[in-house]
Amino acid sequence: MTWVAVRPDASLAAVLVIILFLTPVEGYAVRAGRALKLGKEKVTYLHFFLHDTISGENPTAVQVANPNSTRFPFGFGSVFVIDDVLTEAVERSSPVVGNAQGIDLPVDFAFTTGKYKGSSFSVMSRNPITETRRELAVVGGRGKFRLARGVAQLTTRLLKYPDAIIEYNVTLFHY
Ligand SMILES: *[C@@H]1O[C@H](CO)[C@@H](O)[C@H](O)[C@H]1NC(C)=O
Ligand SMILES: *[C@@H]1O[C@H](CO)[C@@H](O)[C@H](O)[C@H]1NC(C)=O
Repeated sequence: MTWVAVRPDASLAAVLVIILFLTPVEGYAVRAGRALKLGKEKVTYLHFFLHDTISGENPTAVQVANPNSTRFPFGFGSVFVIDDVLTEAVERSSPVVGNAQGIDLPVDFAFTTGKYKGSSFSVMSRNPITETRRELAVVGGRGKFRLARGVAQLTTRLLKYPDAIIEYNVTLFHY
């Protein structure tokens, strides 16, 4: 890479000329960059339960916007920010494995314990919550889930409006 010192009083035209001149050099610098070492593609199956709690003293989902109208039923148009707890079993008292953070949806599922600690995958999909069984698209990941793609199969295990416990069966292709 070539560095060019630009004096503070240099005219805009001079700066533009320098930028044009540098463009191909930058292009080569990018192409010569180090590639991610990916290894073999793997398949991982994950199973956990998400606790979405809106009511009570310690909600994990908070409504941050809603339409200025009562015309929309079932909370259509509302926006929630979530930081839901993920557990090993359906009981909230079972071991916590991570959390799901986002703007319901998109949501990032991160693990805080075990083999996948510090890794996460991201879901960006429609989520037809009125259907007991539904499928969401996994669109990416980081850490152990680099370049993840896959599907998350959801089953509503408890619906105590407005709170819910959802079982997640996730199939991930990743590197
Ligand atoms: C909400 O809607 C009412 C009636 O249409 C309007 O008078 C009011 O200004 C709106 N409020 C906001 C914050 O947009
Ligand atoms: C999810 O995985 C669990 C544990 O492996 C299994 O018992 C359950 O039947 C699976 N559910 C679905 C919808 O595949």
